[in-house]
Amino acid sequence: MQEVRVHHLPRDISAEELSGSTVVVIDMLRATSTICRALSAGAVEVVPFLEIDEARAAAAKDRTNVVLGGERHGQRIEGFDLGNSPSEYTLLSVGGRRVFLTTTNGTRALHHARQARRVIVGSLLNLTAVAASIQDEPRVDILCAGTDGVESREDILAAGAIVEPLLARNRAAWKLDDKAHAALDEWQALGDDLAVELCSTPGGSNLMAIGMDHDLVDCARIDALTIVPELDVPAWRITVP
Ligand code: MLT
Repeated sequence: MQEVRVHHLPRDISAEELSGSTVVVIDMLRATSTICRALSAGAVEVVPFLEIDEARAAAAKDRTNVVLGGERHGQRIEGFDLGNSPSEYTLLSVGGRRVFLTTTNGTRALHHARQARRVIVGSLLNLTAVAASIQDEPRVDILCAGTDGVESREDILAAGAIVEPLLARNRAAWKLDDKAHAALDEWQALGDDLAVELCSTPGGSNLMAIGMDHDLVDCARIDALTIVPELDVPAWRITVP
């Protein structure tokens, strides 16, 4: 039987326990949505960094080919080219270039998955494509990034959204843990207007507070993309294989 588990926060499972698994990392507001947008806009790769200085120093070695992006407290970092809004990542801004990205929670969650066999970047933008790419995997862990160490309803909803098509294809094949069941229930109980629903989630209310409500709409575009970005751990770069 195939197994899918959901983790509300990276600290809920150790990096070692993820080894050998296929991990879908979700920070739907906004890091993983932004990574999907950057790659679909033609960035050659996205390299996730934990620290601002580390990203700056690496970018300095190849400045003309690198776009520095990311946020702290939701805002673009001083001296960086772009913030963490998916809409900033366009053909014009990132096409043909490398994106070095550092965010508060999302890039940390990616780092936490570094021992996994496959690390996939999931969001609502590419949920059906992600589900299709993991449907034959024996063991799937959906790792929610959370917001500043607190679980985020938006990530849990996106986890449920990815579990749904897995089960639709072959319900009998999958064993769900309690959190996967609960995430699916939450997703299926959701009303019609996802973007409005997101306003009251932890990540959503933070974005509303700094006037970035347009990002909620951009990150709620279910299946706008068909790409499945993957982190190549030895090379430490996210691409669309
Ligand atoms: C993060 O990685 O913490 C988030 O993506 C925060 C944000 O909304 O920019």
